[in-house]
Amino acid sequence: MTRPRLDVLSMLAHDLKAPVVSIRQACAMFDDGLLGEVSGEQLEVVGMITANAATLERMVGDFLDIVRCVEGATQLHMEQVHLPAIVHAVARQLAPTLEAAHLTLTLTAAADLPPVWADGAQFQRVVTNLVANAVRYAPPASAIEVAVVGDATNQRLTLQDHGPGIPAADLDSIFSRFWQGEGVSTSGNCGLGLFLCRAILDQHGGRIWAESEAGQGARFSFEIPVDRRATARALATATATATAEA
Ligand SMILES: Nc1ncnc2c1ncn2[C@@H]1O[C@H](COP(=O)(O)OP(=O)(O)OP(=O)(O)O)[C@@H](O)[C@H]1O
Ligand SMILES: [Mg+2]
Repeated sequence: MTRPRLDVLSMLAHDLKAPVVSIRQACAMFDDGLLGEVSGEQLEVVGMITANAATLERMVGDFLDIVRCVEGATQLHMEQVHLPAIVHAVARQLAPTLEAAHLTLTLTAAADLPPVWADGAQFQRVVTNLVANAVRYAPPASAIEVAVVGDATNQRLTLQDHGPGIPAADLDSIFSRFWQGEGVSTSGNCGLGLFLCRAILDQHGGRIWAESEAGQGARFSFEIPVDRRATARALATATATATAEA
């Protein structure tokens, strides 16, 4: 995508956002009773308009993020990121949704797992999308199992659900822009989540993939290189302390 095209798409997304926000605000005026008495039936319709405006707003936001991400125009805010902490944050954020579906989110990770060098907000977005997808497919009262493992060079997060899984032929296509399984588009999703996840992993020099064995649900994994500079710093500090104590 050339630079002028990115600018046009960004402007388009930006211009779409303003009217959508004003639709939502107008609905809130009905909701708050600022425009006089509203019947229950009318409030129901206002609720539908609000929900659709919120979906549109999210889609426009995702679209803008994708344009930036694909262009490499997203400014990454690199920091020391603890992947298990990100999983906890997502679990807190999605707790009402998980509870409503009677789903449990379990996390297995070594207590001494070091942080990785990454953009924490972007990784929260990756994990949120993976969990949100799993929630949509997991049977009620099942578990969504997350594990984080690491070695000297990489850390890997794996998320396993117990839903219907993904046909082998689709395991790579699901990461394509706007790709969706049958019937998903009617639920207010737009097929951008996994595409965005892959773009974020690419930007971090990592990778993301899906596996699914018949009857075993879907398993998504991503791998990210650990910060070699931080590891070297930690080693240097440990050596210096050991020398001082000797
Ligand atoms: N855990 C899963 N189990 C089965 N199918 C899945 C799972 N996760 C994703 N998929 C399939 O991959 C498709 C693409 O997922 P993706 O997250 O990119 O889009 P979406 O969830 O449909 O929309 P969005 O994330 O933009 O709201 C889904 O529509 C679905 O068909
Ligand atoms: Mg999704």
